[in-house]
Amino acid sequence: MEARVSVIEKRLKNIKRIISVASGKGGVGKSLVASSLALNLANKGYNVGLFDLDLYGPSSHVILGVKGQGFPEEEKGIIPPKVHGIGFMSVVYFTEDKPSPFRGIDVSNIIIELLAITQWGSLDYLVIDMPPGIGDETLDVIRLIKKSEFLVVSTPSKVALAAVSKLLKLLKELKIPIIGVLENMAMTKSSFIQNEVGKLGLPYLGSISFDKNLEESIGKPDRLLDADFMKDLDKILEGINL
Ligand SMILES: Nc1ncnc2c1ncn2[C@@H]1O[C@H](COP(=O)(O)OP(=O)(O)O)[C@@H](O)[C@H]1O
Ligand SMILES: [Mg+2]
Repeated sequence: MEARVSVIEKRLKNIKRIISVASGKGGVGKSLVASSLALNLANKGYNVGLFDLDLYGPSSHVILGVKGQGFPEEEKGIIPPKVHGIGFMSVVYFTEDKPSPFRGIDVSNIIIELLAITQWGSLDYLVIDMPPGIGDETLDVIRLIKKSEFLVVSTPSKVALAAVSKLLKLLKELKIPIIGVLENMAMTKSSFIQNEVGKLGLPYLGSISFDKNLEESIGKPDRLLDADFMKDLDKILEGINL
């Protein structure tokens, strides 16, 4: 176990920045933000990897339209296949479409194993699509990926904010770098999330509007690059130092 942990450090050594897209809540758009962020940065010429660590509900492969690319190439570890210019790794390569009822201890082991076997090589950015909540998986990523910075996603709802606040407080307590909070699926102009994030002393990055045509871009990276969702995300990225 400890040997694998030191292998992980070696594997991630040549990655300039690791951005974990997290929430505390499911269904807020983490996977959309993570996949779109990876596409956006790759489109700007950066060397980008995307790692789907939502072992219970992997979905980045659906957003990027990954199918039939086959098993990643093995060469003293595993090389993530390129999808639309992005090095892409997901538990989905191993589970395919079968349900994967992992239990607590297995989740830690699978995350450690995936981190230890994946050969990212040199990257400007590794974007991680995180599972919801602050369970084992989130704690493992914090423990194992020391240089990860968090980009936290919330919807405008008080319901989402309650869960998101818990994650933000945990990250603050553990002194983990937080890039800020991104509001997704905004339907009206409201400064509720912005104010609440301000009260926690954290940066509010801006909002992405609810995009009623987004579904048509799922599985089609070229269309996603042109979607209103991407335009809003791009505006947010212009305002922060990524
Ligand atoms: N800004 C948006 N406008 C419209 N639909 C969105 C938006 N963001 C996310 N979605 C949709 O909401 C659902 C949940 O998004 P997803 O990225 O899977 O959330 P999570 O990874 O947090 O569980 C998906 O069907 C996605 O297409
Ligand atoms: Mg997801």
